[in-house]
Amino acid sequence: MDFLRDAHNRIIRDLRISLTDRCNFRCFYCLPNGEPPLARKETILTFEEIERIAEIFVSLGVEKIRLTGGEPLLRKNIENLIEKLARLKKDNYELRMTNDDEEKRQPATRYPQSEMQNPTLKDLALTTNGHSFPRRAAALKNAGLDRVTISLDSLRRERFKEITGVDALENVLHSIEAAKNAELTPVKINAVLVRGRNDDEIVDFARFAREKNVKMRFIEFMPLDSGNEWNRKQIVPAKEIRETINAAFPLELKEKSRGADTAWRYRFADGAPGEIGIVAPVTEMFCGACSRIRLTADGQIRTCLFSTDEYNLRDVVRSGASRAEIVEFIRAVVAKKEASHSINNENFAPASRSMSFIGG
Ligand code: GTP
Ligand code: 5AD
Ligand code: SF4
Repeated sequence: MDFLRDAHNRIIRDLRISLTDRCNFRCFYCLPNGEPPLARKETILTFEEIERIAEIFVSLGVEKIRLTGGEPLLRKNIENLIEKLARLKKDNYELRMTNDDEEKRQPATRYPQSEMQNPTLKDLALTTNGHSFPRRAAALKNAGLDRVTISLDSLRRERFKEITGVDALENVLHSIEAAKNAELTPVKINAVLVRGRNDDEIVDFARFAREKNVKMRFIEFMPLDSGNEWNRKQIVPAKEIRETINAAFPLELKEKSRGADTAWRYRFADGAPGEIGIVAPVTEMFCGACSRIRLTADGQIRTCLFSTDEYNLRDVVRSGASRAEIVEFIRAVVAKKEASHSINNENFAPASRSMSFIGG
């Protein structure tokens, strides 16, 4: 078994699984009009199906799984899924629960002697809007979740409500504390910066990162909003974000290369806690080192956030395909992964789905 590799020689290490396309927020940069959910119930992957697919991806070298949405906590009993996925972190895969008879018959052939001996999951994370998180944090941790990323686009109550449609700033702030108390750390905070909406809060957010000891991520606005309102003038470019923070709190770059990470990461030069990350998919794109692949709630593989095609893994799995057939399907899909997005090209074609469906 060899790693999952695309035609541009990138290895896939990171699987992002959307658990639902529903969300209880209406962020203007994502799902402003609250479209009715696209996915019908019977098309949504069951936890057993997700577990089976995830296990196969891990056997092919995926080390990180991130659960996203919509809002993943709207999916009932998500703790049960996390428990199943957390088993993929165990070194001895015999401990993993599996319903797949075929694989039970031939365990020895699954990980032949190669560079990929006994691959296991290293990191299980969740992205949430934080609304119902505080009362769930301990159970999520107990189920085996490693860490969370919480979306937070304003530190001002009224503005938070304008951006998300919900008066929930206080709740989300509690979520950050709840995540720390439950040791779902390091806690990451996502802020999508949009010109004229929250770009005057950059320094406040940086101060927040220092005071709360969190990893702050500033993200350039991408054309993935279901309202199709995105335009280039709304982007707050990475350079400006960096300079604005640097003027208030001098920064030091942590590593010269981003690796497969989306963010340039900085520490505070004065030694204060917290971290600043700048995610600049438009002005400083990072596709060349992309290691990500996505699975939608209804079982479609997306090879890029901006893909216009999807690949129906759900039907393959439901058709009773063998493990080998599923692996073959996944490898063929990965091979088609786009070299990069084309937001900066004249002929940019919007993605086939909005962020609420794909997950961050
Ligand atoms: P980890 O790296 O697992 O910690 O994930 P994270 O979700 O905390 O951070 P990440 O940098 O992966 O994602 C933060 C934001 O970056 C997402 O909400 C998206 O807006 C954006 N992003 C993530 N992955 C991609 C990607 O593959 N392409 C593009 N263009 N943007 C991405
Ligand atoms: N541009 C950039 N990031 C976005 N997100 C959602 N929509 C967009 C967009 N249009 C990110 C937010 C959220 C995560 C799930 O996806 O950071 O935290
Ligand atoms: Fe990867 Fe596509 Fe994101 Fe580029 S835009 S980093 S290719 S998922």
